[in-house]
Amino acid sequence: MKYEEMLKYLPNLIENNTYEISMLANFSAFLFEHLEQVNWVGFYINIKQILKLGPFQGKIACTEIPFTKGVCGHCATTQKTIMIPNVCEFKGHIACDTQSKSEICIPILFKEKVYAILDIDSPILNRFSIDDKRFLEQATKILEKELEKILL
Ligand code: SME
Repeated sequence: MKYEEMLKYLPNLIENNTYEISMLANFSAFLFEHLEQVNWVGFYINIKQILKLGPFQGKIACTEIPFTKGVCGHCATTQKTIMIPNVCEFKGHIACDTQSKSEICIPILFKEKVYAILDIDSPILNRFSIDDKRFLEQATKILEKELEKILL
């Protein structure tokens, strides 16, 4: 499925969900199914400045990441998408799966605060391009809109 089609399909997938975890679960499953060359797609949810493992697809992963640690923590602190072409070169990278070679993290914001981080890993170096970044930011905007309807 092309990015354009995926962006059209996404609202149908998550709208009318009344529980945020169900929304995140299907969102991660959808990306895991349709993105090529990825080995992990999932969410870390911000609970009092600790990122806690949320719905995901892939191998078991670390359950807690402080804002001060890892690629996810960096993304949460800066509230900006971060692309890591080679995870071995990122100081502080947390390796949950040694197969992962590159990574992208996108912040999910609610009321201007980090609600969660979308984390995607790839088993190949330099997997994520500017086009991927643009698509994922558009996709997470759709998710943010739907989450706003159900979060307090
Ligand atoms: N690599 C991440 C940790 C999460 S796993 O990739 C699923 C990090 O450095 O924050």
